[in-house]
Amino acid sequence: MSDRLFIFDTTLRDGEQVPGCQLNTVEKIQVAKALEQLGVDVIEAGFPISSPGDFNSVIEISKAVTWPVICALSRAVQRDIDVAAEALKYAKHKRIHTGIGTSDEHIKFKFNSTREEILERAVAAVKYARRFVDDVEFYAEDAGRTDNEYLARVVEAVIKAGATVVNIPDTTGYCLPEEFGQKIRYLKEHVDNIDRAIISTHCHNDLGMATANTLEGVLNGARQVEVTINGIGERAGNTSLEEIAMILKCHKSIDIETNINTQKIYPTSRLVSSLMNMPIQPNKAVVGRNAFAHSSGIHQDGVLKNVQTYEIMDPKDVGIDDNSIVLTARSGRAALKHRLHINGVDVSDEEKVDKIYEKFLALADLKKEVSDADVLMLAGADTAEQ
Ligand code: KIV
Ligand code: ZN
Repeated sequence: MSDRLFIFDTTLRDGEQVPGCQLNTVEKIQVAKALEQLGVDVIEAGFPISSPGDFNSVIEISKAVTWPVICALSRAVQRDIDVAAEALKYAKHKRIHTGIGTSDEHIKFKFNSTREEILERAVAAVKYARRFVDDVEFYAEDAGRTDNEYLARVVEAVIKAGATVVNIPDTTGYCLPEEFGQKIRYLKEHVDNIDRAIISTHCHNDLGMATANTLEGVLNGARQVEVTINGIGERAGNTSLEEIAMILKCHKSIDIETNINTQKIYPTSRLVSSLMNMPIQPNKAVVGRNAFAHSSGIHQDGVLKNVQTYEIMDPKDVGIDDNSIVLTARSGRAALKHRLHINGVDVSDEEKVDKIYEKFLALADLKKEVSDADVLMLAGADTAEQ
């Protein structure tokens, strides 16, 4: 039987921290319901101590959503944990996500503290959170830059204190994929009772390695991944949910399953983009406008013969109706002929197609993209001249 990977979506917490992406409570409920339909296991609904609006949103999302675990963030501070617990009171399945920075940079510059003191605070926070809920996730902030030996001590101690999930964030997006994978493996091999908790990844994308790092984490034993829709999040963002879901769907040899209904990926991506006013880059993997668009002649010819030549995913699997053959100056005759045909033009006369193609190339050099109206105009002009 394949292993199960839990999808923890933090679009409404890490994603919503992005300047300009703030949502009101009604919009957050809309996103939370879409995430439930998408099949995520955990929704991080907010950071309740941060503002009354966030507190209220966690309450309303808890009421609106049934199946996923609702998670609230807190620092390793009793007051934060009290407020998180209060905000979660209506959740059917609830989790408190508490933690503290464990890298020397955080210990020294943020907390002016020591490793021993931080370890004590981590344990105290987990024990305190367990008074309110059975499901407590601990995050070792900046674990990516934390010394492995010390990290293992912290992880072991918080599991002993009752953490059910331990999050190993690459907060600064610094790790190389192999290094991050080794970190997870190190923990799996050196922490007593590691199997009592689920190890989670939470990778940022500062150097464009978030997805690669997350995947390495999974291949080395992590069984929860923290992700966002469209990869939004602090600075360069977080790991994209859609990338991880589709990697696992496309690479059956990995033999790890998620609960994601991939056909809901595209509508969810559009919803988040429009509510957050955050455009998606056209070449974004899986959900970008060009992700299933073929524009060069060689590629178009291949795709028209058999889509498997240049497509590793079926667009329908991510909720997109079909691929698109974009007509540009780099397009070939096969693509033009195909477009003429779907626009109802008779293409049985090859000489006629040749003539239209000549005119098409002249026009395409003047335009970024040749539209259906242009194609019909070229075909009409050709007919009229005969
Ligand atoms: O990036 C990070 O370390 C975080 C934690 C609060 C989990 O977002
Ligand atoms: Zn983060």
